[in-house]
Amino acid sequence: MEKIQSAIAKARARRQASGAGVARLSPPGVDAAWSALKETRLVTRDLRRNRIFADHGCAESTPFDMLRTRMLRQMRAEKWRRVAITSPHPGCGKSTVAANLALSFARQPDIRTVLCEIDMRRPSLARLLGVWAPPQFSRVLAGEETPEDHLLRVGENLALALNAEPVSGASEMLQAPSLPQTLDRIERLLAPSVVLFDLPPMLRSDDAMAFLDKVDCALLVAEADVTTIDDIDRCERELAEQTNVLGVVLNKLRHHEANGYGYGD
Ligand SMILES: Nc1ncnc2c1ncn2[C@@H]1O[C@H](COP(=O)(O)OP(=O)(O)O)[C@@H](O)[C@H]1O
Ligand SMILES: [Mg+2]
Repeated sequence: MEKIQSAIAKARARRQASGAGVARLSPPGVDAAWSALKETRLVTRDLRRNRIFADHGCAESTPFDMLRTRMLRQMRAEKWRRVAITSPHPGCGKSTVAANLALSFARQPDIRTVLCEIDMRRPSLARLLGVWAPPQFSRVLAGEETPEDHLLRVGENLALALNAEPVSGASEMLQAPSLPQTLDRIERLLAPSVVLFDLPPMLRSDDAMAFLDKVDCALLVAEADVTTIDDIDRCERELAEQTNVLGVVLNKLRHHEANGYGYGD
């Protein structure tokens, strides 16, 4: 375990030396690379139907805006850029939280954000965001296509990496030796301040664990009244062995002033 952790620490140090951390830098070509991405417009009706509110400031976006601010503070302090969003089991609301957070970050004009689908077996971000037939991002992760042609831009400062179809061999794809270079390439191209990865759930396969050494920190989404305390504990412990735990979001709280979201660490 120590060996793995020191390897993770080294990889993270390398990324930070290469300019990670929440700060908007514009190396030459970055603005042009953003402008060149294919633009997609999100439709408010689709977003609302899927409980996505954080594209504008409102009562329902407040829990996400608060979470964003808290995450940003810690990420800036620690020079972290890559955030994994995962949960113990499917259906906790990872993708809903990831999409809301991405749109909340995107309302900060000084922040560039990339939202990446990593739940290869059950991709859902595209449907949640109402983006039909997006380019299949898994082809970029597999090293078959370039990110330039597969990322979609929303507004000026949010890029989406989506999958329309589930991918077979997800586990192998997430452990492929070429994956770290692909992620670095996306970051060199777009110089994002924040990269949010919508991961698979932790307790159904080893897909999530296979990816955690590529991120700086992780957020765990649990489902109120469904996820057990034991499962939260187990996942938090496993996350803490691999990365930095930003906190636990308790989703689908029925009687809560924060519109169904609680957050604690
Ligand atoms: N706070 C919430 N209250 C009620 N339903 C929610 C909430 N968050 C998510 N959902 C619903 O729960 C289902 C699973 O959410 P999703 O984000 O797809 O979960 P996951 O990505 O963890 O599998 C979706 O139908 C979503 O609309
Ligand atoms: Mg999902």
